[in-house]
Amino acid sequence: MAPQDNKKPFYTTSNGCPVFDPEAAQRIGHNGPLLLQDFNLIDLLAHFDRERIPERVVHAKGAGAYGEFEVTDDISDICSIDMLNGIGKKTQCIARFSTVGGEKGSADSARDPRGFAIKFKSEEGNWDWVFNNTPIFFLRDPTKFPIFIHTQKRNPQTNLKDATMFWDYLSTHQESAHQVMHLFSDRGTPYSYRHMNGYSGHTYKFTKPDGTFNYVQIHCKTDQGNKTFNNEEATKIASENPDWHTQDLFEAIEKGRHPSWTVYVQVLSPEQAEKFRWNVFDLTKVWPQKEVPLRRIGKLTLNKNPENYFAEIEQAAFSPSHLVPGVEPSADPVLQSRLFSYPDTHRHRLGVNYQQIPVNCPLRAFNPYQRDGFMTINGNHGALPNYPSTVSLNMQYKPVKASQQHEKWVGAVTCEQLPVSDEDFVQPAALWEVLGRTPGQQENLVSNVAGHLSGAIQQVRQQTYGMFRRINNDLGARIEKLTEEKVAQAHAKPAQPKL
Ligand code: HEM
Repeated sequence: MAPQDNKKPFYTTSNGCPVFDPEAAQRIGHNGPLLLQDFNLIDLLAHFDRERIPERVVHAKGAGAYGEFEVTDDISDICSIDMLNGIGKKTQCIARFSTVGGEKGSADSARDPRGFAIKFKSEEGNWDWVFNNTPIFFLRDPTKFPIFIHTQKRNPQTNLKDATMFWDYLSTHQESAHQVMHLFSDRGTPYSYRHMNGYSGHTYKFTKPDGTFNYVQIHCKTDQGNKTFNNEEATKIASENPDWHTQDLFEAIEKGRHPSWTVYVQVLSPEQAEKFRWNVFDLTKVWPQKEVPLRRIGKLTLNKNPENYFAEIEQAAFSPSHLVPGVEPSADPVLQSRLFSYPDTHRHRLGVNYQQIPVNCPLRAFNPYQRDGFMTINGNHGALPNYPSTVSLNMQYKPVKASQQHEKWVGAVTCEQLPVSDEDFVQPAALWEVLGRTPGQQENLVSNVAGHLSGAIQQVRQQTYGMFRRINNDLGARIEKLTEEKVAQAHAKPAQPKL
């Protein structure tokens, strides 16, 4: 018998019993049937059968890493958030980047917005930035989100991605025009997660102890430089290396090339917001930087890969409602809905105690009124009372720093939606002009749309030309011409190889 090496762990069953040969199954004789008493085999099979948890309903494919945020500038005049005050102060974080529509095994280089989620483990609790790489979104009415997402996923009958569904929705909900322009420019296919920006998109409120507040938007600008694929490159990479972004991030960090982002805020006082041309609660609009300049606040750097993807990245649970003192959600209705949706989906995906999973666990949490439930692993607050006991619960409540009187809302209950108007096409038109400053970018947008839209039925193609004409007549005309050429070509030759 080989001598035992005390430094190496013994393989055991899940209940800790050493196993002589974990690859052997207990059986009768040489070829006989197996035994129900073989806990090692049965436990291994049963655990394997349960290895998959629900994938995220959106943003299923992603990659992540650890890092830190460092305050570089003094913003104490507008902000009381502990983590953001004190030049040089560092806060540890974990980031996860993702595509949105595809399943967990889908290609990283797909044309899609990208998720840009960061969980900061601050002294006053976890603060999550659940951002995208675009400053705007497809919609401003949250009830449309599940409906919209369905049209970007698979057709219920064919189980195929469906260009008709996709464009039918977008062309009949034209508040999406601005995001569509981003998505179908080369910005819709970033070169890597390191080479893209992150944006809060939503307006938040930074509050002050004196009861005042400002509206803010947060921008994370890549220090690696913005870099994109064109459609041809993205399509090629999708087949050659569907995990391109995942590999790029992991290997860059492994080689010590730590990606970083400079973080800025845009700030509007309530009075300025009142007079501002754009509704600060409308997620389809940006705050033009000429009018609301960026103010630098810090640097985000990713410097460590996870040891275990499932434990640390798949189980990471971000939510816009994971906030800290000094920051509050604005009345943006999409943000308001997200405050509910994320913890709700985490309870479904990871269980009611998802905040106890180490990657999600805050530096400190003391909430003895929240008890029990599946997978309680934090000691469940031991013998402490689970109610505000005057006898034995020795704790205090931290006074809220800011006044609760920030905004007063009065009004009747309505089901009001902002109607689509000419104003919705002003910023997309400006983006079309911006693309015109870089040779080839307008052409790429036209060709990217035409390639996709040519898969939709005629009625939907017509609706979509109308949307692009509202942005810019020339843009609409060019998309129509190229799309119809592609349709004609597709009719001339069989689309599928002969089987
Ligand atoms: C992921 C809902 C809009 C950014 C998710 C998930 C849900 C969801 C259910 C899956 C979360 C999980 O399983 O862990 C919604 C709803 C929206 C909305 C209901 C609108 C009503 C947005 C917007 C942004 C955004 C506007 C960005 C500004 C993200 C990101 C993730 C995500 C980054 C991935 C987080 C991760 O890496 O785990 N969203 N979303 N979402 N969403 Fe949204």
